[in-house]
Amino acid sequence: MFKKLAASAVAAVMLTTGAFAAGAPGGKVENIDFSFDGPFGSYDQNQLQRGLQIYTEICAACHGLQYVPIRTLGDEGGPALPEDQVRAYAEFYEVFDPELDDFRPATENDHFPGSNLENAPDLTMMAKARAGFHGPYGLGINQLLKGMGGPEYIAALLQGYTGEEKEEAGSVLYENTIFPGGWISMAPPLYGEDVEFADGHANDLHHLSEDVSAFLMWTAEPKLMARKQAGFVGVVFLTILSVLLYLTNKRLWAPVKARYKKK
Ligand code: HEC
Repeated sequence: MFKKLAASAVAAVMLTTGAFAAGAPGGKVENIDFSFDGPFGSYDQNQLQRGLQIYTEICAACHGLQYVPIRTLGDEGGPALPEDQVRAYAEFYEVFDPELDDFRPATENDHFPGSNLENAPDLTMMAKARAGFHGPYGLGINQLLKGMGGPEYIAALLQGYTGEEKEEAGSVLYENTIFPGGWISMAPPLYGEDVEFADGHANDLHHLSEDVSAFLMWTAEPKLMARKQAGFVGVVFLTILSVLLYLTNKRLWAPVKARYKKK
């Protein structure tokens, strides 16, 4: 009881100072204003590149992205790496080639490797597999404006560790206020300042968590921008069509209406 009270007191202090506004005090996933939220949102290319770096240097030690073709790192609307960098990046990985019956450096036409660690899930679709918001957050208009909360969930999860650990059936579990059940078998992967960015961008835990979550949103939904654009064109098209149909309808019935008015 006392522990709970103390925890909520700490959470309240953190909330009022605002330092952890997007973190996870009390185990709640808070909305983050990502650049890709909303009907006109788009990915922030620099953020995706930072997220890729965090993924590569840290998460890839255990996790895989086996459904992501490496060449898509060069796609417009994604991280948009120049071609030579995509090729150089690919060579960083080794893949098993059944034709050679041996490992060879990956090329841009290969996919990212799968998970290295048996119990670490593949992260390709994770941002869409997990919803962060429940109740009114996940319904109706909020979903359109703020998304489902998948990247928010991942960002909060990475910041949700309490520092407590315990051993259960021979494996270590780490207490995490966001993970359902409260105990996760992933050791805290980020502490802040784990990665250095070439442009000196902020690398505290808060920024790193958001950047890697944005990157994982891109892996789960690489065509988000094209989809939103197509949707927008569709809405404009349907609006124009409705106006035309309304006018046509009026015109078609005008003689009939006029006849009845005369009587
Ligand atoms: C040392 C290995 C290791 C590293 C490094 C690691 N993870 Fe994990 N991760 C795991 C394991 C193991 C699980 C499964 C945890 C469980 O289900 O208890 C997991 C689970 C997850 C989950 C799923 C949680 C859920 O709701 O099921 C996410 C998201 C995740 N990791 C993200 C990351 C990100 C992002 C990074 C890099 C910043 C990272 N992980 C680095 C081992 C790792």
